[in-house]
Amino acid sequence: MKLWGGRFTKETDQLVHNFNASIGFDQKFYHQDIRGSIAHVTMLAKQGILTGAEQDAIIAGLSGIEQDIANGTLVIDGTQEDIHSFVEANLIARIGETGKKLHTGRSRNDQVALDMKLYIRDEIAAMDELLFSLLKELHLLMKEHLTTYMPGFTHLQKAQPVTFAHHIGAYFEMFKRDRSRLADTKARLNYCPLGAGALAGTTYPLDRDYTASLLDFAGATQNSMDSVSDRDYLIELLSASSTIMMHLSRFCEEIILWNSNEYRFITLDDAYSTGSSIMPQKKNPDIAELVRGKTGRVYGALISILTTMKGLPLAYNKDMQEDKELTFDAIDTVKGCLALFTGMISTMTIHPEVMEASAKNGFTNATDAADYLVNHGVPFRDAHGIVGQLVLFCEQKGIALDDMTLEEYQAISPVFEADIFDAIRMETCVTKRNTLGAPGPAVMEQVIVRNEAYLNEV
Ligand code: ARG
Repeated sequence: MKLWGGRFTKETDQLVHNFNASIGFDQKFYHQDIRGSIAHVTMLAKQGILTGAEQDAIIAGLSGIEQDIANGTLVIDGTQEDIHSFVEANLIARIGETGKKLHTGRSRNDQVALDMKLYIRDEIAAMDELLFSLLKELHLLMKEHLTTYMPGFTHLQKAQPVTFAHHIGAYFEMFKRDRSRLADTKARLNYCPLGAGALAGTTYPLDRDYTASLLDFAGATQNSMDSVSDRDYLIELLSASSTIMMHLSRFCEEIILWNSNEYRFITLDDAYSTGSSIMPQKKNPDIAELVRGKTGRVYGALISILTTMKGLPLAYNKDMQEDKELTFDAIDTVKGCLALFTGMISTMTIHPEVMEASAKNGFTNATDAADYLVNHGVPFRDAHGIVGQLVLFCEQKGIALDDMTLEEYQAISPVFEADIFDAIRMETCVTKRNTLGAPGPAVMEQVIVRNEAYLNEV
């Protein structure tokens, strides 16, 4: 039985039914659909549109349906077109005639707009929690590795020494911004569309502000046509989700490099690695690669909905049903990737000695050698040229700046004294970089204290 069969003389073609139906995926928000209906009915009774007895019967019926779906006794099958029809048909089957009053003053257009917003709000909370757990893990790593020296790169060429804490701290900032992007998305979506009807409101004396407050919204939406056709919040959510995935993907790329035989900065735990069916020696970083790979499907969801929305006249159009599957998939993908990524980095082994050796061997202290000359009165441009000669000398001998003798230094520039060796030690190079945001441990400690305060905010 269709909700809208009255003016039709023929049954819907089966293929048309299948093509049109959304129950295969919108059943995901049955809980939100029922929650919205209970609020709607509560408001209708307060306004005298339904009696108290009708309200009680409908709410009891809806609560029973919700429980039965949750415990598996009521199975959502494909006979109904969507979750809204499924719940309403079941309500009527359960409580009879009164059930037919549920949809008074409501359309599926404002109903689905509400359900989706409720669902997204819940999912934003779940995503935020996962980001928060990741941040806590990064915070621990930062505290542990304030003096774990490693090369910092530009152009993937060793550049200047940093610490592992500092490198991780960069991702801490990114995921912090991701949380605030989700919070912004929630703040803007947090207005209740219910009561907008199909597009032009209704003739019943609804109290929309009351419904909004029952559902913990900041208020009711202000224009009924916008209410049923706004999908901006999905675009914002998918944009924020794409950015989260981009951050995870960059991090995964680094983890894959660090875990490779060429770097050996870290070793991924066996529980987070996989083997090869042919090459017995292999231990592959599949999880990091999959997270990097899944970034594409989340970007795809964003582009898909932007494209779906671009030509739609006001107000509701069925095209909008296409907002659901890809959004659900994107949310599940982001949540899965965040959880796995956090597990992967909390179990990996870090090799500080390899990182430090790599920083030394890559001339990351060359800038500091030049600064040494500048501090002894050599103009920077000349100092740059002198250190260039040192690097060339070392490269020919296959050694680091730290391994040259004082005589060799002085043969290139008489300005060098014995204290050059202390000046170019990794510890000195990093400790001297003490401007806010730099890797020097003293200034990093301050950042860690601020991060700690951020993590303790409620
Ligand atoms: N399944 C529909 C959707 O996801 C629900 C709204 C249906 N409204 C309508 N006028 N057919 O958009």
